Amino acid sequence: MTANERTALALHGGSPVRDTPFPPRAHIGAEEKAAVNAYFEQVIASGTLNAYQGAEETAYCAQFADYLGGGYADAVSSGSAAIYVALKALQLEAFSEVIIGPFTDPGGIMPIPLQNMIPMIADSTPGSYNTGPEQIAELISPRTSAIIVPHIAGEPADIEGIMAVARQHDIPVIEDCAQAHGAKYKGQILGTFGDISAFSTMTGKHHSSGAQGGMVYTQDEALYQTARRMADRGKPHFLAEDATNAQASLNFNQTDLAAVIGQVQLRKLPDMLERRRAIVGQLIEGTADLEMSALRQTAPEIESSYWFLPVAFYPQRATCDKETFCESLRAEGLSLSLDYRTGMPHRQEWFIERRVFGNSGYPWASPEYKGDPDRDFPCPNAQAMLDSHFNVPFHESWGMREVDDIIAIFHKVATAYARS
Ligand SMILES: Cc1ncc(COP(=O)(O)O)c(C=O)c1O
Repeated sequence: MTANERTALALHGGSPVRDTPFPPRAHIGAEEKAAVNAYFEQVIASGTLNAYQGAEETAYCAQFADYLGGGYADAVSSGSAAIYVALKALQLEAFSEVIIGPFTDPGGIMPIPLQNMIPMIADSTPGSYNTGPEQIAELISPRTSAIIVPHIAGEPADIEGIMAVARQHDIPVIEDCAQAHGAKYKGQILGTFGDISAFSTMTGKHHSSGAQGGMVYTQDEALYQTARRMADRGKPHFLAEDATNAQASLNFNQTDLAAVIGQVQLRKLPDMLERRRAIVGQLIEGTADLEMSALRQTAPEIESSYWFLPVAFYPQRATCDKETFCESLRAEGLSLSLDYRTGMPHRQEWFIERRVFGNSGYPWASPEYKGDPDRDFPCPNAQAMLDSHFNVPFHESWGMREVDDIIAIFHKVATAYARS
């Protein structure tokens, strides 16, 4: 790096490319406000805030199922609840094993031990946050009862390959589409490959049912009916009239108020996705000449919905390490996270210390569990992703100026740290 280049960097006292904050996401607006106001007029007139399968929730579920090409959907209170309910709906045995990819939200994995089952962490495929068929196959045992496939960052996992392995062993699959609304694999929308799928619709997701929410989706009517019971304390929905609550669960119902917002958001989703894809296309094009870092390009069979942007850093092509490169990007005005460490819940304290049921160490410590309770999951491919990638949050409200600024920031920093 020359003296001029060093001082030009904002990290060394130069002027940043961008000194104003990036715009806030503008996905909630006048349409949601009008819909909520109209709903409240009805609430005031009727004196009822509907909490159980009201007209709005029923409509939202039907529209969501339509968006996925038919089938059945049940709106729940969060993405974590959706995973919990999907697992419960499959009626799995306690102390069985559930295989799951290495990157997910804690809420995407905690429902496994909370239901007395053992999470088995499959590595990601090389160069990806997502797990794949080979990595899953390595963990399959007679104890395996289900597989959860998180599609991370909006990018579809090799769900076709995973389904083939799962079908071979007759193991049900839950797709976790919390980060991948509307993403497609070979033209087919995610959520429709597995036996059942779970979505988070909290406010940061592509489309949102207000501040929190989730959706459980399946094409199997019987599974849907069980899911409805599991989302509502085992109430005897779809059972004989004199039946009583059929199984223990919790109340994960979504409200009509949330569903009002969800419906408007769902209508906006195709445009949001189109805008995200356009922005990423421009960013990839604008940074294609950079050698030391690259925005992730997906395979042709994949249509990502881009929840955040994974960026690779190649240390052998730079005069600095990833930390310095990222610090420098930040100093130029780019918001980023250094790695996706927070997305590996099996390295968090609760998992390491087996903190699920007091100090018992259950479900791992139970004599009922016949596998190795101390099994380690090193996940070398996932570790390599942490070491080699950083993540840039973004959203569909970015305009041309934001795109141009990002491209300028990457060029400025990459030029300063280029090997001569
Ligand atoms: C992959 C994944 N699964 C599950 C969840 C949990 O969703 P929620 O935060 O709505 O409970 C999230 C949330 O970010 C997620 O990213």
